[in-house]
Amino acid sequence: MSNETYIHPTAIVEEGAEIGENTKIWHFCHIRAGAKIGDNVSIGRDCYVDSQVTIGSYSRIQNGVSIYNGVTIDEYCFVGPHVIFTNDQSPRVLKKGWEILNTKLELGASLGAGSIIRCGVQLGRFTMIGAGSVVTKNTKDFSLHLGLPSVQKGYVCACGDRRLEKSDKVVFDCCVEKLPDHMIDKIKKDIHE
Ligand SMILES: CC(C)(COP(=O)(O)OP(=O)(O)OC[C@H]1O[C@@H](n2cnc3c(N)ncnc32)[C@H](O)[C@@H]1OP(=O)(O)O)[C@@H](O)C(=O)NCCC(=O)NCCS
Ligand SMILES: [Zn+2]
Repeated sequence: MSNETYIHPTAIVEEGAEIGENTKIWHFCHIRAGAKIGDNVSIGRDCYVDSQVTIGSYSRIQNGVSIYNGVTIDEYCFVGPHVIFTNDQSPRVLKKGWEILNTKLELGASLGAGSIIRCGVQLGRFTMIGAGSVVTKNTKDFSLHLGLPSVQKGYVCACGDRRLEKSDKVVFDCCVEKLPDHMIDKIKKDIHE
């Protein structure tokens, strides 16, 4: 853990959790041994991060989110307040041999406040999920989804400013103006135009 990392005194970070540089863990969080949290991440108040969870650099987890085993969060993701993740498709108390179903947030995905992400889905790069939506299916890169169950309502650019028809372009002028250079470089490197 580097000197720049900040852990609020009320947070519990178990020995064996990896916390990156400049990462901030706020009030009353619990980070389990084995969790891997990248650089420049913010974990808001009252969050729980399970033992095999990975959270990529520059991601932001807002208040009150529990991130269970099976969930992987790539870089530059935004998880809104009180988002609900799941990892058991058919939960029953005392059931033997239940299996974790994995959920993946790819580069830059944003989840609106209070959205529910059913386990087993892959959320594409820069997908945006509306507040309160229930996601039950995979989403495509740059797609916007709303509702219960959520349905696709078009596309959104990397900075989130404009709604688009499907485009092969990955960076627009608005994105260059509003996003930091390291994020634009990452988008260009990882998503080929
Ligand atoms: C999904 C979202 C990005 C859409 O923004 P937008 O395109 O500006 O939305 P608009 O206000 O123009 O609404 C367009 C339509 O979608 C509906 N809509 C908007 N957000 C919705 C949502 N979360 N769930 C269901 N429907 C929604 C509107 O009611 C409207 O419906 P209509 O066409 O029947 O009138 C935005 O509403 C949202 O949910 N943002 C996330 C906010 C959030 O949780 N932030 C977290 C940090 S605080
Ligand atoms: Zn943009």
